[in-house]
Formats: sequence, structure tokens, C-alpha cells
Amino acid sequence: MNLSIPFASGLDAVVKRQLEKLGYAQTKAENGRISLCGDWSDVARLNVFLRSGERVLIVLGKQKCETFDELFDFVYSLPWEDYLDSRSLIRIEGKSVKSKLGAIKASGGVAKKAIVKRLCEKLSLTGATLAEDGARTIVGISLYEDMLTVSIDTSGEGLHKRGYRSLAYTAPLKETLAAAMIDLSVYHADKAFADLFCGSGTLPIEAAMKSLRIAPGKNRDFDFTAWRCAPQGVLLRAREEAADTEERQKTLDIFAADIDPNAVSIAKYHAKRAGVEKSIRFACADMRKFQTDTRYGVIVSNPPYGERMGEIAKIRSLYADLGKLYKSLPDWSIYILTSCPEFEKFFGMRTDKNRLKKLFNANLECGFYQYLGKKPPKA
Ligand SMILES: C[S@@+](CC[C@H](N)C(=O)[O-])C[C@H]1O[C@@H](n2cnc3c(N)ncnc32)[C@H](O)[C@@H]1O
Repeated sequence: MNLSIPFASGLDAVVKRQLEKLGYAQTKAENGRISLCGDWSDVARLNVFLRSGERVLIVLGKQKCETFDELFDFVYSLPWEDYLDSRSLIRIEGKSVKSKLGAIKASGGVAKKAIVKRLCEKLSLTGATLAEDGARTIVGISLYEDMLTVSIDTSGEGLHKRGYRSLAYTAPLKETLAAAMIDLSVYHADKAFADLFCGSGTLPIEAAMKSLRIAPGKNRDFDFTAWRCAPQGVLLRAREEAADTEERQKTLDIFAADIDPNAVSIAKYHAKRAGVEKSIRFACADMRKFQTDTRYGVIVSNPPYGERMGEIAKIRSLYADLGKLYKSLPDWSIYILTSCPEFEKFFGMRTDKNRLKKLFNANLECGFYQYLGKKPPKA
């Protein structure tokens, strides 16, 4: 099957590397998606193990389409009876960029009619509608420069929904983005890690899960498991593989703090749900109080951005104090995600151009500012 993994802007290299580590070297990144070939076991493995991809799609076909008639004919020509059944609940999700078929709701309606017509004919169903009281299948209709890609979504809920984050908190990072920020940093299991603005705990939890090799999707379900076309047992095998690869006995040095006591208790609860609470030390503290004798550690944080009116003076002093902290820890590396365009000025130091990455956090364009500390002497 042709599989496709959408990812957030700026994360192509990260997702590609994660795929390589999972044994998928033959991949191609294009227009916000990575494509690769795989079977149902790969669908299960990718859903369970991938840390920063958004979902796992099966691509049923691709063709240039400029009119509703072309769209209908192409969608009708695809083998829907191999993937859907007479009771499938079909949800269409559409996207159109730089294409003549810009009215995506109308295109979705045409696509649905074509799918239903084909299924009624191939499954010899009477009538022109389906009961749609069975398993959900989200069908993707994506147009880019008039090229239509039709896919079905094996994940269902996006892969950022690991399941551990159940309590609401202001401005949490998507788990997939947090995992990518950790992958982009120099952090690894033998180093100290700190998030001094931990909020609901996403960054330290993702750091612990990566270091303990806990698969992000091992405790959740995916839409494909309810599909008749998917062989039984593939998810179970992927979960068994996930259990076998875990290294829970590893000792980690992960510190998470926030000035808001409510954030700290939420973060602790989420860490417990993720099964990593023993690997993280929590504290309710102002970032300015951070002190450590440990060397060569890594701070990865998502501080407040000062988006609201009147917050700029507060942010300026917070970022300035963060810059002072960095200078006081010469062998620590620090990675900060913020949408504040003046971050470097306030922090007091420019980052190397190659060390500034543009990332999107909830549609806000952010800079991921990276400052490396001194390296440990070679043994
Ligand atoms: C954008 S939120 C972090 C969200 C977090 N990454 C998550 O996924 O939930 C920023 C956090 O910084 C905290 N904060 C603000 N000023 C702080 C300070 N001086 N020291 C420590 N934490 C601070 C806020 O309480 C808030 O929880």
C-alpha cells in the first residue's frame, strides 16, 4: 500500500529521521507529507511508534482533477469495496490549495456521492444511501495545484493524542511538536534535561518517553482496528513489540518546573498517566531560581510568548533573565520556542542562522531558538 504521513511545517527532517530509526529508509517528503510503501503491519507499527507524524494515511489514488465531473469519475474508479463495507460511517475531510476546485465542501459532497454509488453497485446494495452505523472511516480529499490525492485515515484521532494529557491547561504544546523539539535538541538519555516552564508537562513527559523508549501510541486505539479489511492482530503485535523495546529501568535526570502550582500538579498527574512520573522531578518555582551542579544538561522550553496586549515588558524581563541564566550555565544548551519576534534582542544573544528553525505552534509562527553549550571533553 502507499502510505502517507502528514507532518507540521518544519518537521520534515525530524519525521524522516524517526522513520529511518523505525526501519523505513525509503521515504519521500513532499508538500507536508512523507510517503512510503507498507502493509497492515507497517500501518500498526507507524501508528504506535511514530512520535512526530500527525497521522497514518493509506493513499488510494492520485490524479489531476479540475472539474467536479473529473473528481467524481476518479473517486468512483477507486476500489472502495476493498476498504469499506455496507455499514461504514464515511467522513470526508477536504483541503484545497492553489486548485481550481477551491470549494472543498462541495468537492467533498461530490466525492461522497461517488463512493456511495460505487459501494452500492459493488456490494449489490439496494437504494442509493448507506446505513453508516458502523466503523468510522475518514476519507481525505486533498487538492494541491489541481492534483487530487484520495486517502483513508488509519489513525482516526491525530497521533498527538497519546492519551496521557487529560486535564485542560492554557496553551499546551501538541505532543507531536514537543517530541520534535526534543529530537531537534542535543538531549539524550544520559544527559540532564530541564523544562523550566513545564505547564501541563508535555516536554518533560515526551523526553522521558523517548529516553525510556516508551512508544507514544501504545495505549490508544486507532480507527483501522475496527475495519473489516484490516487483518486481526496487527495492532497487538505492534503493542508487543512496543512492550519489548521499553527500557523502564533506566535512570533519567529530568527536571520540570513551573511558577504556577496548578500547572505542576497537572503535569505530575499527566506524567503518572504516561507512566513516567518516577523519572521526572517536579518543582513549583520561578525559572529565575534554577540552579544546578550538573554539567552538560539541556533546557528545552516553551515559555509564555507575550501575545496579549500589555505583556511585552514582562516578557522582555523574563527573556532577559533567561539569557542571564544561559550565561551562568556555560556548558548547558538551551532551546526556546516562542512567537516573540524580538526574542534574541531580549535574550541578549543572537542564535546561529542554522540554529533558528521556523515551527508552527497552534497556527502561530514561532522561532525555535537554539543555543549550544560547551561540549564535554573527549574521553
Ligand atoms: C506556554 S506555557 C507552557 C505550556 C507547556 N509547554 C505545555 O505543553 O503545557 C508557559 C508556562 O510558563 C509558566 N511561567 C511563566 N512565567 C514563569 C516563570 N517566571 N518561571 C517559571 N514558569 C513560568 C506559566 O505558568 C505557563 O505554565
